[in-house]
Amino acid sequence: MAQSTQYELHLARRMSRLGTETAFEVLNKARALERQGKSIIHLEIGEPDFDTPANVVDAGIDALRKGWTHYGPSAGLPDLRQAIAEYVSRTRSVKVTSDEVVVVPGGKPIIFFTILSLIDEGDEVIYPNPGFPIYESMINYVGGRAVPIPLREERDFSLDVNELAALINDRTRLIILNSPQNPTGGVLQRRDIEQVAKLIGDGGQHFSIMSVPGMQERTILLDGFSKTYAMTGWRMGYGVMRPDLAAHMTRLMTNSNSCTASFTQVAGIEAIKGDQTSVDHMRDEFQRRRDAFVAGLNKIKGFSCRMQRC
Ligand SMILES: Cc1ncc(COP(=O)(O)O)c(C=O)c1O
Repeated sequence: MAQSTQYELHLARRMSRLGTETAFEVLNKARALERQGKSIIHLEIGEPDFDTPANVVDAGIDALRKGWTHYGPSAGLPDLRQAIAEYVSRTRSVKVTSDEVVVVPGGKPIIFFTILSLIDEGDEVIYPNPGFPIYESMINYVGGRAVPIPLREERDFSLDVNELAALINDRTRLIILNSPQNPTGGVLQRRDIEQVAKLIGDGGQHFSIMSVPGMQERTILLDGFSKTYAMTGWRMGYGVMRPDLAAHMTRLMTNSNSCTASFTQVAGIEAIKGDQTSVDHMRDEFQRRRDAFVAGLNKIKGFSCRMQRC
């Protein structure tokens, strides 16, 4: 309950434009019910129900004992930035160097910083709808114009490139692509992404637009450790972008968080470079559950659920 006070709260006008991610509110309510002893099946927040792999937890504990408890560089520990650059180069078939990597507390700050650093009032940002709620919230917060591109079931929740073409104009500053997509599970196919790249004027499996020739310096790639390594509560993510923009994002980090927690980053190096058996196990189990869930939903009258192509 809000505390009553004789002083009226005068919020900045922009706060009326800031949205939220309601899954967190529902999670709080569900946890409160759990504390009262109720049995709850959590379908609200999207996070792995696995524990962080033991080798990563051990690396974090070891880092704490070894004194990784101090401030670090705003852009992230050099060894982690290097590990991420190698990982992204390998998984996206591009050449990424560590000065293009900015480590932040989760993937979300990259959305926040990208929009803060690139969007002026009246600038347009195209974002997927349905989509992660923070996109629209942040675009509105900075006074940009949020332009939704609809994702439709009949297209396996991939975007329609002709529809996208009709939304692009002189004021378009950013196009947000999310693949695999939250909440539809849609995966953008290589052909769709190449068409999007063509549309912007350059240039089966999960494929990044960064890999399309000519697109790397026009792409801000956002990824993180939350889901792949079941590390949601550790708060660690990163952006990959041209080095001159990375310097501005680093300044935003200095102004906001100073740096991502140092011991968390040391654990992150183990996550990327260490044994990947747990990741393979989690992926196999998620695939098994997806197959069972999609098949089950499609058996219910009135329901339809697409199986994503990945
Ligand atoms: C599309 C998308 N972006 C960003 C995030 C934020 O993840 P985190 O900040 O934990 O990396 C999520 C979490 O579900 C997401 O689905």
